[in-house]
Amino acid sequence: MQSQATYNYKVVRQFAIMTVVWGIVGMLVGVIVAAQLVWPELNFAEWFHFGRLRPLHTNAVIFAFGGCALFATSYYVVQRTNHVPLFAPKLASFTFWGWQLIIVLAAVTLPLGITTSKEYAELEWPIDILIAVVWVSYAIVFFGTIAKRKTSHIYVANWFYGAFIIAVALLHIVNSAAIPVSLTKSYSAYAGVQDAMIQWWYGHNAVGFFLTAGFLGMMYYFVPKQADRPVYSYRLSVVHFWALIFTYMWAGPHHLHYTALPDWTQSVGMIFSLILLAPSWGGMINGIMTLSGAWHKLRTDPILKFLITSLSFYGMSTFEGPMMSVKTVNALSHYTDWTVGHVHSGALGWVAMVSIGAIYYLLPRMYGKTEMYSTKLITTHFWIATIGVVLYIASMWIAGVMQGLMWRATNPDGTLTYSFVESVKASYPFWSIRLLGGVLFLGGMLLMFYNMVKTIAGQKAYSAPVVAPQAAHA
Ligand code: HEM
Ligand code: HEM
Repeated sequence: MQSQATYNYKVVRQFAIMTVVWGIVGMLVGVIVAAQLVWPELNFAEWFHFGRLRPLHTNAVIFAFGGCALFATSYYVVQRTNHVPLFAPKLASFTFWGWQLIIVLAAVTLPLGITTSKEYAELEWPIDILIAVVWVSYAIVFFGTIAKRKTSHIYVANWFYGAFIIAVALLHIVNSAAIPVSLTKSYSAYAGVQDAMIQWWYGHNAVGFFLTAGFLGMMYYFVPKQADRPVYSYRLSVVHFWALIFTYMWAGPHHLHYTALPDWTQSVGMIFSLILLAPSWGGMINGIMTLSGAWHKLRTDPILKFLITSLSFYGMSTFEGPMMSVKTVNALSHYTDWTVGHVHSGALGWVAMVSIGAIYYLLPRMYGKTEMYSTKLITTHFWIATIGVVLYIASMWIAGVMQGLMWRATNPDGTLTYSFVESVKASYPFWSIRLLGGVLFLGGMLLMFYNMVKTIAGQKAYSAPVVAPQAAHA
């Protein structure tokens, strides 16, 4: 049905549906690993072991769920805000199928124990090459669309998506440089502390660009759209952009405090992390204040609830992160569940919630409907997801601080007050609460799946005509 004169929604639909599907799969694996910590007997097979499933969880939620949400929304936003259909639609379709293939390959190789052992970059070299090819294709489609735009201005959301695409290409290609010894085994091109430094330059910017900049692009389009208000301060959004992308790049060493990394690099990482609070909060405030004059909508609109709550969690995790980067705080938090709590206040509270809000916005529009099948179900989803996140992160904070304090407690004669296993025993109740939180969050995703299927069923998909260039905003 597609022609030159229509937006390319097919690839947006495909990625939007897979966001929900991979969200369920990735979170189900999260629930399984959470259950394995409560009931160790669940580690019944080598391929089903916590150590194999944990990277499967992180890859599935970050790259499959988060990645599909970013592809879907960026392909939608770049067309709508530039008033042109996607450049190279066949290449766009290739990015969809290529990305799904990468996810399937990850789902097979990680449980088999095929891994580089670099966190968030576990996939072996043949898959890494495929990722690089798909990612470069993504860049061509995205920037090609911007190049042939019919608007003179490039809306700020595109800047965030664009930075995310360029930075991830750079990070992935540099960090994955390796010497292969067989089809399934390679060794990093870097050694020792340089390897660690590059890995956490990658790891931290995976957070900064994959889990933050891309989702801020999403926020800058979907919050004003759903609130039906202009961005609170466009000037602030531009300052936010440059300050954020400049600062993130230097903060990686905060993952390597008290290691063999030169001390001054650790201090640089800490200082840039503290500075990062300012652009992060600037962006959060800009997003939340976009609701000025439309606060009442929060009472009745569950999609807006998702979007605005996600910004609150973004503010929380970007306050907590700089605090944890202070060396003396990190001495307590590192290796504990506090880090896991911080991760999920960002991952569930910010990344998952903003994606869920954006996908609820997109789905009916992609299928020629005015709204989702059931708004009530979205409201229910919102509340159980919120309760789920709160249970998850509150239990991890308490467990984390408790673990840190137990590990450093000493008796007057200098011996340790607690053995490690005592701290494990004391953590059980909190791991059970985290499991409950995860089950609730996953339950919400299942409601979303049902709502999505009902929305799609019964109405034919359509292709929207391209907005005339002179028409006002996307
Ligand atoms: C139902 C929802 C979820 C549950 C139950 C869950 C559970 C877990 C568990 C049990 C761990 C391992 C913690 C440990 O090693 O002690 C973990 C790690 C992790 N999860 Fe999740 N998770 C969920 C959703 C998500 C989402 C949506 C994301 C990202 C968008 C995410 C990102 C991560 C990351 C990055 C780690 C590694 C943390 C670290 O190394 O410190 N999770 N998750
Ligand atoms: C101003 C922003 C932020 C700063 C300065 C920051 C800082 C930190 C620090 C200091 C750690 C602990 C490192 C360690 O002890 O090993 C950490 C871990 C982590 N943070 Fe953040 N954080 C920020 C925002 C976020 C956000 C928004 C997310 C998610 C969307 C996130 C995801 C993670 C992840 C996944 C880890 C665990 C890495 C690992 O596997 O060890 N952070 N962050």
